[in-house]
Amino acid sequence: MMIPKNGHRAHGFSSDFFLDSNEIIDELDLNGSEIIMDAGCGDGHIAIKLLDEYIDSGTVYAVDVYDASIEDMEKYKLENSVDNLINIEADITQGISEIDDGTFDVILTVNVFHGFNASRKIDEAISEFARLIKNDGRIAIMDYKKWDVPKGPPTQVRNSPVELEEYFSNHGLKMTYLNEEIGEDIPEGKSHYFVVFEKENIK
Ligand SMILES: C[S@@+](CC[C@H](N)C(=O)[O-])C[C@H]1O[C@@H](n2cnc3c(N)ncnc32)[C@H](O)[C@@H]1O
Repeated sequence: MMIPKNGHRAHGFSSDFFLDSNEIIDELDLNGSEIIMDAGCGDGHIAIKLLDEYIDSGTVYAVDVYDASIEDMEKYKLENSVDNLINIEADITQGISEIDDGTFDVILTVNVFHGFNASRKIDEAISEFARLIKNDGRIAIMDYKKWDVPKGPPTQVRNSPVELEEYFSNHGLKMTYLNEEIGEDIPEGKSHYFVVFEKENIK
């Protein structure tokens, strides 16, 4: 396992090595006042980028199931006196009991969702995300395209946007945005997609 660039401990491979976090966050067109979760934050580089460059009056939640990642984020918060960062160690698929219904404007997951498929917990994850977003909130997923390529997770655990659309529609959520030209340049094209889901009854 490569040690993340920021030195924090992480359970998975940090996307800081191969994805541009500004490119990812710019997809969200934030105004700075949002309450936003970096779900499956790993080394927390996206949460930290949000705090440094995008979120001023809002709040960033960094959530991960790996205790060491959250310990390192707590250390970061204390050392840098970041008041609007909340770090939570939790398994998203089991529910994050510390967080109330309808808290988030945005939930962002980067390279996490295929893991829910691998553990056969996609519905549990979507149900929890649906509980946690505001009525007009957004769930944004950046993940590997469902291609049989050497880099990244096994093809069978990857989800295509069409497959995600079906899962989310069972929870009353619809796709409102899709970008399939994002991520790393690999011989086959762009490595990732970025998709947004919102509650169906709102828009
Ligand atoms: C491949 S890493 C990606 C980390 C980070 N998002 C990034 O882009 O660098 C996947 C992360 O998701 C976390 N994770 C996986 N399943 C989770 C779950 N059920 N609840 C919370 N975090 C989870 C892992 O601990 C790991 O930190």
